Amino acid sequence: MRKKIVAGNWKMNMDLSEGLKFAVSVEKHFRENPSDKAQVILCTPFIHLAGVAEILKNGKVALGAQNCASEASGAFTGEVSAYMVKSTGAEYVIIGHSERRSYYHEDDKLLSKKTLLAINSGLKVIFCCGEVQNEREEGKHFLVVKRQLEEGLFSLTEEQMDKIVLAYEPVWAIGTGLTASPDQAQEMHKYIRDLVRDKYGNNCAKKLPVLYGGSCKPSNAAEIFSKPDVDGGLIGGASLKKEDFAAIVEAI
Ligand code: PGA
Repeated sequence: MRKKIVAGNWKMNMDLSEGLKFAVSVEKHFRENPSDKAQVILCTPFIHLAGVAEILKNGKVALGAQNCASEASGAFTGEVSAYMVKSTGAEYVIIGHSERRSYYHEDDKLLSKKTLLAINSGLKVIFCCGEVQNEREEGKHFLVVKRQLEEGLFSLTEEQMDKIVLAYEPVWAIGTGLTASPDQAQEMHKYIRDLVRDKYGNNCAKKLPVLYGGSCKPSNAAEIFSKPDVDGGLIGGASLKKEDFAAIVEAI
């Protein structure tokens, strides 16, 4: 059985005290209602990490960052390294989110470098891929995702792939209210797993969690998660409301 995962991506929301307060309530919820099916992860802004790590310590919920630097250390003003992220107590980092790819021009080569640094720092990577609307309309979505994986991820060894969680997030579905249909998600997730199988073999492909992201909410989560190659979700907007986030975890 593959590990099921529901990760909340807070993006750039909540100041420090709001974030800590929210983490306390999420932690309490999952302490009192532990999910025996899914690993729950909160991916917070950098400034929240150390405080949220304290709150989640010894509990059921894991912690992640949303980004890390592409260099290990040194004179890179304003950057936060993977090693620093790890030192807060975080276990995961999101790399390759479409908002980083488009607004901060992060390309496959840079993402490949970040992924390797993160793994070498002891983090697990939630590696995002997905096409924009035009690419889907032109029927290029498989090709785009293939390129993102081949150039951003497939320089890893099979052992390093153990530290990867993939997230398929069609960009046209992120924050738009549009969701990939369960069949569209399944089709792409299966395609991704087949690519991983071709490159790394069946064992690796079978173990790899592939999450769906893009306007996932309580009303559509169960149907999407019921698909055989969908192993959970990466949740943006709905992770900012405890009831919605809890209902999505429940849907697993
Ligand atoms: P959304 O975001 O759930 O708000 O669409 C998902 C994501 O960007 O990870």
